[in-house]
Amino acid sequence: MTSMKFPKDFLWGAATASYQIEGAWNEDGKGESIWDRFTHQPFKILNGDNGDIACDHYHRMPEDVQLMKKIGLQSYRFSISWPRIFPAGYGEVNQKGVDFYNRLVDQLLAAGISPNITLNHWDLPQALQEKGGWPNRDTANYFTDYSALIFKQLGDRVDLWSTFNEPWVISSLGYGDGIFAPGISDKSQGYQAAHHLLLAHGNTVKIFRDGNYKGKIGIVLSMTNNRPATQSEADIAACKRVNQDNYGFFLDPIYKGAYPKDFMEWIGPHAPKIKPGDLEKINQPIDYLGVNYYMTFEVAFSNLGGLLKIDMQQKSASNWDFTPEIGFSINPDGLTTLLGYIRKEYNNPPIYITENGCTVEEKPNEEGFIMDWGRIDYIRAHLRALHTAIQEGSDIRGYTVWSLFDNFEWTFGYKPRFGIIRVDYQTLERYPKQSAFWYQEVIKNNGLDY
Ligand code: FCB
Repeated sequence: MTSMKFPKDFLWGAATASYQIEGAWNEDGKGESIWDRFTHQPFKILNGDNGDIACDHYHRMPEDVQLMKKIGLQSYRFSISWPRIFPAGYGEVNQKGVDFYNRLVDQLLAAGISPNITLNHWDLPQALQEKGGWPNRDTANYFTDYSALIFKQLGDRVDLWSTFNEPWVISSLGYGDGIFAPGISDKSQGYQAAHHLLLAHGNTVKIFRDGNYKGKIGIVLSMTNNRPATQSEADIAACKRVNQDNYGFFLDPIYKGAYPKDFMEWIGPHAPKIKPGDLEKINQPIDYLGVNYYMTFEVAFSNLGGLLKIDMQQKSASNWDFTPEIGFSINPDGLTTLLGYIRKEYNNPPIYITENGCTVEEKPNEEGFIMDWGRIDYIRAHLRALHTAIQEGSDIRGYTVWSLFDNFEWTFGYKPRFGIIRVDYQTLERYPKQSAFWYQEVIKNNGLDY
């Protein structure tokens, strides 16, 4: 058994997102979001589920903060619902929405928990979608105005900020493929959306700097670990395209001030329209990169593989299975590989792991308790992979479990349960699982035995 200690000041947390936990979708002046609209349509979501009630966090926030305190979280990553603040996306402010997040931040601080705010985790105001959504350049300006208001309201008390959660998911799954809200499947709109998300990001970082707020600001990306299926030139090139689509398209402009040239040529007429000066705006220094890591893919060239001509297969490590209900591959070492790639490609930026976690087979006893050893094994293995990356020289500042609660898992509805706290969706009672108590020890010791 070896003992793994994490660096001094390493930040341990857990994450959620507004649409996945808040509920109260049309209460206290909140506007409709694209996820409200999407989930209210038939056949979009498993079992017809939606986030109308979700974990009812909007009404149970004080007790939820007390639970976080009991677990000993040092940091809580949550997102703000833009349509709760600006029901129409811009213009008139909904004060009750602002008050809710003000109370949340104050209660977190009183509980000794550092707030880590994501300004947008996918729930764009539907009113802005009516104007074209992210493919419309104006949306980037509305986002910056919304962020400016949030900074003014909360900027004195928040240590960590991110502009967006997983912009690739918004642009690619929301606008390119249409399997997520707002359900548009048009590659050109997808890449245009990505450019505007980046523009919104850059402009927001700029106003954050200009306001001299005390916290740090970054962006959170979904980063799968991808490897070529064979060493053939075609497979290697296909894998590179996936990396460029998934992260190069975002990180190159942010860190290097340019889109990957060969990739832009590959997508040809679907490449976004860029105005002079845009890349300078996007190329703002950020304080950290947020990495969400879940899975590893093998990528092969395929003639039938859409615009990118790829075939992607999830690959679990030989001693791991796939996660139940949602079928994610498990490959802890993929995290070390991925972090090594970022270290080399982007000059070793400070990193927080902003999401990592899994579903497991779980059945509560009659007390509602769950012995989720599978989740503990998963997190332990990923912490070990993370520790290895730190020893190799990566600058890792913190780890965040996805998720604090079982919650609404997008198109999979409530079936997959990612929480370290169980939510009984009938009674809305919360039950910390064994993993929550195990995690409490990890936090206390700033490490674990392996
Ligand atoms: C990430 C999302 C998060 C959750 C996890 C399982 O891509 O950011 O909201 O759905 O996956």
